[in-house]
Amino acid sequence: MKQIKKNENWKKKMEIKLDFKNVMEDSIGSEHGVSNSDIDNIREKIANAHKRVLDGRKSGELGFYQLPYQDKEVSEILDISEDIKNKFDNFVVLGIGGSALGNIALHNALNHKFYNLLPKKDRNDCPRIFFLDNIDPKLIKELIDIIDLKKTVFNVITKSGSTSETIVNFLVFLDLLKSAVGDDWKKHIIITTDPERGDLRKLAEEESIISLSVPLNVGGRYSVLSPVGLLSAAVSGIDINQLLSGAAYMDKLCSSSEFDKNPSFELDKNPAYKSAALLYLEYVKNKKNITVFMPYSNSLIGIADWFSQIWAESLGKKYSLENEVVNTGFTPVSALGTTDQHSQLQLYVQGQYDKVIVFVEVENYNSQIDIPKLYPEFNSFEYLGGKSINQLINLEKQGTEHALVKNNRPNYTIKLPEIKAFTIGQLLFIIEVQTVFMGALLNINPLDQPGVEEGKIYVCKKLGRKGY
Ligand code: PA5
Repeated sequence: MKQIKKNENWKKKMEIKLDFKNVMEDSIGSEHGVSNSDIDNIREKIANAHKRVLDGRKSGELGFYQLPYQDKEVSEILDISEDIKNKFDNFVVLGIGGSALGNIALHNALNHKFYNLLPKKDRNDCPRIFFLDNIDPKLIKELIDIIDLKKTVFNVITKSGSTSETIVNFLVFLDLLKSAVGDDWKKHIIITTDPERGDLRKLAEEESIISLSVPLNVGGRYSVLSPVGLLSAAVSGIDINQLLSGAAYMDKLCSSSEFDKNPSFELDKNPAYKSAALLYLEYVKNKKNITVFMPYSNSLIGIADWFSQIWAESLGKKYSLENEVVNTGFTPVSALGTTDQHSQLQLYVQGQYDKVIVFVEVENYNSQIDIPKLYPEFNSFEYLGGKSINQLINLEKQGTEHALVKNNRPNYTIKLPEIKAFTIGQLLFIIEVQTVFMGALLNINPLDQPGVEEGKIYVCKKLGRKGY
């Protein structure tokens, strides 16, 4: 009982919080800000969007909602990952888009920045991890240069089982593996794909290759918490149970439902819906169609790239659900604090009024670095000595926020108490919910990507794929 209480308190302490004050007109004025009456004016829209999301959840169409609760899959993944740790020195993910960005985001956020350079014992005996999410010939060659195939396992991830980039990378390494390890090649491959369809599923069955399934109702960019993202995370020692527990925690925080009564009040109880509603109002009322995602931590830049995909690919749509041409969407930009204060920030403070900046702030970096007091006779050194780098990075974020507010630029902050599997699970999940809720507000389908398919079809035709 005491343990449960302690655990609940810890979770509460680790809850991520969102501060929206700098999107509101009280902070930045009515021309660029949002008011509570703006929210009330879209009360019906919010209630309808909620109904649509709820229906999608109930019908199973929005399959990512089930991912925090997949106990069976987690134990299977943990078993496979233990086996991998015992047998291999290198783990290579072959995938692209939603079949790689989540994996990279988790690895960057939760593992050591120089993970692959650490001695094996400091990696808790986990293998080195590589992500091949492009078909750059130089990149492929350089990966071949540094891995010993006899000690390498490849996780081929493709929901469709047919994305050409992933298939060609697979074919290249399959060929090399066959030469390097002969009939044992099958032991060096794990396939993550559709449970029923596609050539990779067939291959897994025909050759008895270990495989994991991407749930039918979970598309690429919503699959980070499925076996797509979980295997590479578990193999590198990330606590995937904590990750899913964070997602489940956020799911609870985003489950209020009485939107037809008092939307502004109810939105305060649902941070995912609130951020979507405010970004929606900034878009339709104030013409802000660019979303800058700016974490103040190098560990979170992978999350910014993952955000860019889910936000762009889900919401950039030509047609409404009624097939009218609407051409909606937001241009995502990934930025890094403080680094991009010295490159992009000038534009955000003084350029066109077309952006909302989303900061991600980290309260405790779990590493304190004090600034040495050296050469106090130099003015540019003296005022820094004796402070901490932690103080400085937070102050720099405040300075950026201050400059934006002073110039009436909407921005809001997502606060992470620490970067841990539990908080990252919350962050990924809130963004997923925010995205589908925004899809419902925009009255478009956030789950398809017909524009991407057009390019894929062109390549298949040009290369003479049968059936195209
Ligand atoms: O989000 C999506 O659906 C896409 O980005 C896909 O993940 C990407 O095109 C790769 O597809 P697949 O997993 O089928 O190889």
